[in-house]
Amino acid sequence: MGNSSSQKELEFQKTELNCREIILRDQFQVDSPHDLYEQLTKTIKQKTKFKIQEQALTCYKTLIANSTCSTNSTMDIEIDQRSILNSIKLNEMVRYYQDFNHYKDSIYQLEQILESPHMFSEKDVQLLQQHIGKGSQGNVEINFLQLSQNSTAKDQQLIPIATKKFEDKNQFIRESAILTQLDKSIRPILAFIGSNSSEIHMELCICTLGQFKTFIHTNNLVTDKLLISLFLKLLFKLQQLLNKGIFHGDIKPENITIALREGHASVLFLDFGASSWDADDYLNYYTPAFCKFEIFQMIDNGQTLSKEEIRYAEIYSICRTIQYVMLPQASESLFNQKNISQFIEQFEKTFPSTIQFLKDILLNSVNSKISESQLQVLLEKLKHITQSIKFDEQQLFITSSIINKI
Ligand SMILES: Nc1ncnc2c1ncn2[C@@H]1O[C@H](COP(=O)(O)OP(=O)(O)OP(=O)(O)O)[C@@H](O)[C@H]1O
Ligand SMILES: [Mg+2]
Repeated sequence: MGNSSSQKELEFQKTELNCREIILRDQFQVDSPHDLYEQLTKTIKQKTKFKIQEQALTCYKTLIANSTCSTNSTMDIEIDQRSILNSIKLNEMVRYYQDFNHYKDSIYQLEQILESPHMFSEKDVQLLQQHIGKGSQGNVEINFLQLSQNSTAKDQQLIPIATKKFEDKNQFIRESAILTQLDKSIRPILAFIGSNSSEIHMELCICTLGQFKTFIHTNNLVTDKLLISLFLKLLFKLQQLLNKGIFHGDIKPENITIALREGHASVLFLDFGASSWDADDYLNYYTPAFCKFEIFQMIDNGQTLSKEEIRYAEIYSICRTIQYVMLPQASESLFNQKNISQFIEQFEKTFPSTIQFLKDILLNSVNSKISESQLQVLLEKLKHITQSIKFDEQQLFITSSIINKI
């Protein structure tokens, strides 16, 4: 009895090993166990960040133990088992989060647990350091946040996060201060703000509006309703922001993101690096293409803008963003500020409602001001026509570049 069960056990182990070897050979694209062994040896020798699988380690050890191949070269290899095991864990996580449903669940979990900036710290971050964005302030990368300390390795929960690293400490303090004053319906959920480093750790969003543009154009989803509801959503978020007394200062597609909230897409602002609390402090790092030329000139001349002028400037940037999202790549020359009238003429028939609203703001050459009540009226008018944005979040996740990066 005992013999037959240990026999079975042995057979099982053998089959398992064979399977592992096949998987590995496939992964390394080698034909024989010898070549596989050579590949693994090379990988470990190079000490590269190559993501070696758990099977690789087991198989590697077994190959040596069974003397399937020559073991001479193993003597001079220093196997850093810990780092290999770490990379295995991370690699498994990477594959796990390439599945939209896991990503969705984890963001939902993040939403439930977080918003208490002191709960997590640097020690809870497992580094992946996958670069996703470079800006004037530093780099943004994907890492993993370890949710619980005491769980076993098996059910350890790691969820993907975005880490924004600052070169300038003052910029870090400034952006952190603004982010913590805002509601998560305006900006990404905060995991925590670095205490030992100038880093902000936050929810990893699905994609920027720039990537969203590509998505809707390649999938034939550009409609008047979609654009106008995107416009309304952005204006709502802007109103919330302005009600807090904060100006964004750099509204453009790459600083707007789509995130999952309770499983559905939500539009948020990113990058509060140019944000400020009041008109005197109005930093304005506007990207010229998204800023009204006259406003740009006023700032350049050292003029302080009034609140009404800043409100107008922010809304103008939202309009330019919508215009950018609307334009197919072939017509991007119409994005040039001097071609605005031509742009309106060309797209008026295809997107009548959206153009109607954009027109009023983009062509306003009389006064560059919008009052609080004028914004409220604009929102009321828009609410009558729009529906919420409906699109396939899963498709968007798959199409967005993030999937290729974790
Ligand atoms: N939470 C996030 N989720 C997903 N991607 C993000 C996130 N935060 C930032 N990114 C990506 O990183 C890019 C740069 O981030 P951000 O705009 O905050 O940095 P920045 O240094 O202020 O950039 P810039 O000065 O160019 O505007 C974004 O455009 C976006 O592509
Ligand atoms: Mg930015």
